[in-house]
Amino acid sequence: MSLRLKTILGIASIEALLLLLLISMTLDYLRTTNYEGLSKRASTTATLFATTSKDAVLSYDLASLESFVNEVLKNPDLVYARVLGPEDQLFAQAGEKSVLARVFQADVMVEDVSDSIFDTYAEISESGVVYGRVEIGLDINSLTATIDEAKNKSASIAALEMFMVALFSLILGTYLTRQLKSLSDAAKTISAGNLAVQIPVKGQDEIAEVAKAFNAMAANLQEVSQRRDEFEGQLKELNHSLEDRVTRRTQELVEKNGQLEKANRDIQDTQAKLLQSEKMASVGVLAAGVAHEINNPLGFVISNLTTLETYVNNYKTLVAEYQDLFKITDSAERKQQFQRINQLIEEFDLEFMNEDLGDLLKDTHEGSIRVKEIVKGLKAFSHVEQGEVMQLADINDCISSTLKVVNNELKYHCQVAVELGELPHTYCLPGQIKQVLLNLFLNAGHAIDGKGIIKVTSCLENGCIEISVQDSGCGISKDDVGKLFDPFFTTKAVGEGTGLGLAISYGIIVEEHKGDIRVSSEEGVGSCFTVVLPVVLEAPE
Ligand SMILES: Nc1ncnc2c1ncn2[C@@H]1O[C@H](COP(=O)(O)OP(=O)(O)OP(=O)(O)O)[C@@H](O)[C@H]1O
Ligand SMILES: [Mg+2]
Repeated sequence: MSLRLKTILGIASIEALLLLLLISMTLDYLRTTNYEGLSKRASTTATLFATTSKDAVLSYDLASLESFVNEVLKNPDLVYARVLGPEDQLFAQAGEKSVLARVFQADVMVEDVSDSIFDTYAEISESGVVYGRVEIGLDINSLTATIDEAKNKSASIAALEMFMVALFSLILGTYLTRQLKSLSDAAKTISAGNLAVQIPVKGQDEIAEVAKAFNAMAANLQEVSQRRDEFEGQLKELNHSLEDRVTRRTQELVEKNGQLEKANRDIQDTQAKLLQSEKMASVGVLAAGVAHEINNPLGFVISNLTTLETYVNNYKTLVAEYQDLFKITDSAERKQQFQRINQLIEEFDLEFMNEDLGDLLKDTHEGSIRVKEIVKGLKAFSHVEQGEVMQLADINDCISSTLKVVNNELKYHCQVAVELGELPHTYCLPGQIKQVLLNLFLNAGHAIDGKGIIKVTSCLENGCIEISVQDSGCGISKDDVGKLFDPFFTTKAVGEGTGLGLAISYGIIVEEHKGDIRVSSEEGVGSCFTVVLPVVLEAPE
């Protein structure tokens, strides 16, 4: 169904409905007022007629009644009039014969009249006594004709109006749909890609406004489209130049990458060389330390051996002289030999030699033991003596058993306070951990001159086991703190420490167990060494 038809049908049906309502209300009003007027007129006429006839009825003046009846019939539309006595005896009547012949039946409402005559009556009474009554009949044909005419006229006006409205709707609808069609045609043209479209603008109404707006929009679209085409062109150009640049840059990057790879290889080579030289330097430091450490005992061992060699030669000479003495039988010669031997004993200072021999052997033995210890320490430092495997152990047990070992050494001048927290068992090398602890306990003991306190604690902190050994000893100078873990760094007298304890401990804790050793110290107050061990719950490979 087209918009035009919808408009016409819509407006026509609204119009028809409204007209129907208006006409029915008007006609209803017309009918009611006319019917009321007629019924009022009938009752007034009957009452007036009854009043006029009263005296004549009372005096039984039939001639007067006759004339009254004729007089009253002059009223327009009155078709008959009748005067009756108290016992319904007819006194006078006039009107059309056919009408007078009917049996009187009073009408109450005009609407109920079926024989087109409205019959009504009025009683003739005096002081409450009824002396008779008058009956009249009014023709309602002219009234119904008037109403019918009004009905017909209203219907014609309604039909005319409906026709006019339909015609106007048709014209308006046609105009509107035509404008809309031109709009939709133009929109289709635009969507097909042709933006150079304009709708003819007619008049000044809203449709014209829409057409103007549409034309402006189309013009804008065309401008934007042109600009977009231009941009697209520029973009294509840019894209081309960008591709060129990217290709060039990529080539440059590939070259740079090659250079970087070469540089990286060079760096790796240099790093390997550096590492090698650092290793060599460490070996050098180690060798220098070892040389220094071994040199001392070895020096006096060699010097002792030289002296011992002299002593042995002296003894050999003396033994040979004694052997010669046993062979001599002549007493003079034996005396002479004795003198020679005594002379040699004096010369060799045999008494001193005998005394010195013991000392020399003891010193040489001690010196050799010391060299052996240094070599043993070195072996531990270089982890030559490995073989222990990672096992689940209780660090608190390690602490307690190590404390038992050092107890003899510490108990005379130190009070050892132990505070062990609850720790999970962890995979570690318990033997090596004990070695670390032993060194820390001994260092703490050595640091305390006279009486002092060593506090040993263990706890779990941030998922790691922490063991701290705190002493009230001499403390460490700021200069020395940085050297503590250097191999052979010691402040102890020769023979008291090799300076390998902390270096070895560092290797065990940091390298073997991926833990840490922290130091805090204040000169004259004391030091605290803290060993941090990560808790390992699964057996490492
Ligand atoms: N608790 C401490 N208080 C003061 N100084 C310390 C303490 N622990 C270590 N040091 C200093 O660090 C030096 C190095 O200690 P380290 O354990 O490595 O070797 P050492 O004890 O001298 O010899 P070794 O342990 O090989 O017998 C010690 O000589 C000492 O000067
Ligand atoms: Mg030590």
